[in-house]
Amino acid sequence: MSLREIPVQDLTPLEAQAELKELARTLAQADVEYYQNDAPSLTDAQYDSLKKRNEAIEALFPDLVLPESPSLKVGAKAAEGFDKITHLIPMLSLSNIFEEADILEFTDRIRRFLNLTAEDPLDFVAEPKIDGLSYSALYENGVYVKGATRGDGAQGEDITANLSTIRGLPMKLQAPFPEKIEIRGEVYMTKADFFALNNEQESLNKKTFANPRNAAAGSLRQLDPSITASRKLSVFAYTVGFTSEELWTTHAELLEHLKRWGFPVSPEIQLCHNDDELLAYYRQMGEKRAALSYDIDGVVYKINRMDYQRRLGFISRAPRWAIAHKFPPMQAQTILKKIRVQVGRTGALTPVADLEPVNVGGVMVSHATLHNADEIERKDIREADTVIIQRAGDVIPQIVAVLKDKRPSNSQPFEFPKQCPICHSHVARDPDEAAHYCTGGLICSKQAVERLKHFVSRDALDIEGLGKKNIEAFFEKGWIKTPIDVFYLKERHGEALLNTEGWGEKSVQNLWDAIQKVADGTALDKFIFALGIRQVGQSTARLLAEQFGSFSHLSEEMKKDTAMEELTRIDGIGEVMAADIIDFFNEPNNEKLLEELQNKINLLPFQTNRIQTPFTGKTVVFTGSLEHMTRMEAKSLALAAGAKVSGSVSAKTDFVVLGADAGSKAKKAAELGIRTLSEKEFKDMLEII
Ligand code: IVH
Repeated sequence: MSLREIPVQDLTPLEAQAELKELARTLAQADVEYYQNDAPSLTDAQYDSLKKRNEAIEALFPDLVLPESPSLKVGAKAAEGFDKITHLIPMLSLSNIFEEADILEFTDRIRRFLNLTAEDPLDFVAEPKIDGLSYSALYENGVYVKGATRGDGAQGEDITANLSTIRGLPMKLQAPFPEKIEIRGEVYMTKADFFALNNEQESLNKKTFANPRNAAAGSLRQLDPSITASRKLSVFAYTVGFTSEELWTTHAELLEHLKRWGFPVSPEIQLCHNDDELLAYYRQMGEKRAALSYDIDGVVYKINRMDYQRRLGFISRAPRWAIAHKFPPMQAQTILKKIRVQVGRTGALTPVADLEPVNVGGVMVSHATLHNADEIERKDIREADTVIIQRAGDVIPQIVAVLKDKRPSNSQPFEFPKQCPICHSHVARDPDEAAHYCTGGLICSKQAVERLKHFVSRDALDIEGLGKKNIEAFFEKGWIKTPIDVFYLKERHGEALLNTEGWGEKSVQNLWDAIQKVADGTALDKFIFALGIRQVGQSTARLLAEQFGSFSHLSEEMKKDTAMEELTRIDGIGEVMAADIIDFFNEPNNEKLLEELQNKINLLPFQTNRIQTPFTGKTVVFTGSLEHMTRMEAKSLALAAGAKVSGSVSAKTDFVVLGADAGSKAKKAAELGIRTLSEKEFKDMLEII
């Protein structure tokens, strides 16, 4: 039975408290959706009935009225600022180390302090250092009563209401628990939630945040808790402040209690027995950092035994028993020397920033992407600006901000070139796209070189020995101008290559072997991808190969009037992409080249490693309730049989599986003449496999 079904007079105080909190959250969310997003999540009747229930519970439990109670909100004026809360035990900070060698100094100091020999066991718990804001949550008799920021360590801001809106922070602890306990940890925003929030802020023309930490801080420190509630914040717990009872003798045990009480605890935590394990953990987390769903700025090492922790105590504002080992910062400040415009293989012009080289997170960075002209204009990025650059994982460095107060007085806005910097052809812009294009097509040498590099690259024809540098050199010499020249290289320029510096008999022979291997047999999808048709990536190339089976069939079909229809029937190919594919096959210069390539390369038919089933490549829609299996089960069976499962019926649907009480989708299937299957028929067809 859910709380809402319990008659108000039968609620226990704990249930009442939980429900009031839940109601406050739901109604606050509904307010935001109603007032701010223009997208109500509840009907007026639902909203009113929840509000009534909230009032009824409050009438019966006046002591439990929350500060963020929906009944107090009407006409209520936001407070001037936050009240102060004095922590029962001060919230301290951590000392930092930055070098790997500092680990030894840290553990040595501890051993000396505790009078331990190098052989005595000394365990540590290593944790990620979450890049958010610390909180302290006070629980009395297992019930959340107060929440505070760290503030100056002694006193923090009262964020009781705001903290209570964060999903994941338990309002009640699972027994047994100390009568009074301050649980501490970090409030953070996941990278995904941060990007989503910034997108939304941008679309509403509101201020965006520089990073997830700022977004978390800006969202938590809101005087109106309904704004906090509307932002997706997360929490981890990692320590306690005051506790009336200590049910654990090690930090690792404390973490187990935190989990049992209902707190999220980072799954990345590890017990380490010596310096080598601490170091291995630091390196491992450094590598994992970019892939984590939230930002971390280092790791924290904590002495595991509580008696040792107590003996070690604190020096000034940090414990002696723990230390933060920081990662190199992923952001840095530098000067943007020049904005250069690069030409890609499709003619797209990409602006790139040439930077005064700077160390970002341990890597020297001298270029950053600027995406397109709109981005430059929006961020008002100019040459000679001082900029903040950021590197996130293996992503190309980006400019996050311009320090405008450092801008030279004679600075001018950047003007996007009107001519291709390579071939001087006119630059065009598709009104639907942000990118500018060089219209030089076949005469633009940069496009030609980039196309060649793509043609032989690893995911395309994969010709080892023809790397980017060699392609540039051979293009320069005029040996390889178009893709077909690759296959005449030996015949026409073999002698010359042997006499070229840097090439020996062995490397030349290896190159001939690699080219011959491609000529002997190349997978159809790789070949299609290698052609560099605009918008056709590896997965589309695979779809085309799968659908048409052979290259001659594909090119024949692309010359017919039905080409557009044929392509858009394929799930994953839309009209714009289809138009590019058709254009490619109908361009006379391409036709000639394709014919020559087909004469030189033995194209292997597309190999599918799946067993063919009646559902292979088909789109299936389920509707109505199924009798013998759940929707999830049915869906995974269909996927396993090679089908695509869609939620709505369209002309692209092949089968609609009808359960009981199938509604509008069944009707639509009938209208479109799509084959429908009963649950039994669906199962029978699967049995055949
Ligand atoms: S323990 C007395 N553990 O880092 C020790 N702190 O730079 C209290 N932080 O104020 C902190 N992740 O906001 C601890 N796993 C972790 C942490 C962590 C992030 C933050 C915390 C602290 C700051 C110190």
